[in-house]
Amino acid sequence: MLQGEFGEILEMFRNSFPLSFLFFIPIFIIISPVSPVNAAHEFAIYRMQQFDLQGSQFGCKSSLINMEARPIDAKILTRRCIVAKLTDVTISKYRDLISQNAGGLLILLPQNLSALTEENKQHLQSLERDLLLEENGVMPVYFAWETPELIAVYDDINSATAGDQAATAVEALFNSASANGFQMVISGSQAKALSEFQITNIQGHLSGFGIEEQLPTIVVVAHYDAFGIAPGLSTGADSNGSGVVALLELARLLSKLYTNSRTHAKYPF
Ligand SMILES: *[C@@H]1O[C@H](CO)[C@@H](O)[C@H](O)[C@H]1NC(C)=O
Ligand SMILES: *[C@@H]1O[C@H](CO)[C@@H](O)[C@H](O)[C@H]1NC(C)=O
Repeated sequence: MLQGEFGEILEMFRNSFPLSFLFFIPIFIIISPVSPVNAAHEFAIYRMQQFDLQGSQFGCKSSLINMEARPIDAKILTRRCIVAKLTDVTISKYRDLISQNAGGLLILLPQNLSALTEENKQHLQSLERDLLLEENGVMPVYFAWETPELIAVYDDINSATAGDQAATAVEALFNSASANGFQMVISGSQAKALSEFQITNIQGHLSGFGIEEQLPTIVVVAHYDAFGIAPGLSTGADSNGSGVVALLELARLLSKLYTNSRTHAKYPF
């Protein structure tokens, strides 16, 4: 989860294995402006994950982009890579992009998610959930942190879409010739499904005193996986990294106490 808890969806995944994930490590996009004065720029991006859940496919299917950058409200979206800020994107806009055959979507995330307003946090949470629950998206969706270079590109393409709104063909031609074109290119190959992967569970046990079967067992659990729209961005600090840290410390302390008969508790852990 990029922001806060995501219990409902996490539970859904927890309870419905097996599922298969697609390859999702960050890759780079190179922007090569048509203007030869500006150099190409590379930056890390995070792919929206794809997974199969009980036969249905979720997330974005393809991963390759080699197309011109456009703002989300441009008139011509077909085979274009849409570059949008988080607040520009809504689930209905996303469906719009799909229906107009947009080639890809790059969502720019503010550098400091903790500083988002309450309203924007909620927007991010519901967008994340809605995008993940959309079935069969074919358009590649990526996330990147807002950097001065990306903001400059965003501003440029937003001011350069006049061609789309031009009243006459000549005007449109003139605008497109004078406008900055940005080509978005993904390095690397098409994402591949992970056919075999292992999920490891770690368990520890401390024996109780006396007749163990008659004593209640105390179970302390935490989970060390996190779930989110882009796994590379889902740190899971509070779901459940902090729980794992507490559990490991508890195991360390209890195993010490259990080695001494005076401090050994009655119950099995
Ligand atoms: C991010 O925002 C939070 C809340 O406004 C602030 O406490 C924190 O220092 C910021 N972090 C950075 C790295 O700017
Ligand atoms: C961590 O996960 C456990 C269950 O797996 C839950 O009881 C606990 O509240 C979680 N803690 C945090 C901080 O999310």
